Amino acid sequence: MRHKLLVGNWKMNGSLAANVILLNGLKAAALKPERDIAVCVPAPYLAQCQSELSGSRIGWGAQDVSAHDAGAYTGEISVSMLRDFGCRFVIVGHSERRIYHGENDAMVAEKVQRALANGVTPIVCLGETLAEREAGKTAMVVCRQLDAVLAASGADDILGMVLAYEPVWAIGTGRTATPQMAQEVHALLRAQLAEKNPHAAGRVHILYGGSMRPDNARELLQMPDIDGGLIGGASLNAADFLAIADAA
Ligand code: 13P
Repeated sequence: MRHKLLVGNWKMNGSLAANVILLNGLKAAALKPERDIAVCVPAPYLAQCQSELSGSRIGWGAQDVSAHDAGAYTGEISVSMLRDFGCRFVIVGHSERRIYHGENDAMVAEKVQRALANGVTPIVCLGETLAEREAGKTAMVVCRQLDAVLAASGADDILGMVLAYEPVWAIGTGRTATPQMAQEVHALLRAQLAEKNPHAAGRVHILYGGSMRPDNARELLQMPDIDGGLIGGASLNAADFLAIADAA
């Protein structure tokens, strides 16, 4: 049985003062034992997470990582730097990075490799746009995105990954994929993993992301291949994030 994993993606939100309130709210919660929760925060707040969350059951991580190890890459942050701050996770290939920063499948695959090689779990984001869904291309798009990652990976690498299916049209729009729509894609992704490593495919967490809220989390998280959530807006409020974790 895969434990449910709930990850908050704060995106470009937060302040030292606001984060203390949010993190204290999360730390104070009595989490069910079979729940894992984590927050992926803007890089300047990783030190704060390390000092506030060390010794708690809440993990933390970053929202992006460089594909390079070190050197003349102004503005980039390496995976060894993330490790210095105790990161367990890093989000890779979020649609906002693909859209606003021109990240393509090959770059995402490189970042995934860099994270895996350094012991940080990549949360690999995959998802179609509204135009792609309406054109019947959802399966083709998500399989192409995952294929790029798998082509660059060894069979055992799969065990170190988390996938997140995030339909672009559901992110921050209040429009959620129905549980059936999401389950269909999750099952497809798991089948694709199984072609590379049948044993690992059953163990990999596949999260759903896109307008997940306390009122729609339960039915999404009941689906057999939805192993948790990658939560944006609702993760900025401790009560909402915890209600989602509780619904799982
Ligand atoms: P929202 O939950 O705000 O729709 O964001 C989802 C997301 O992009 C998480 O990575």
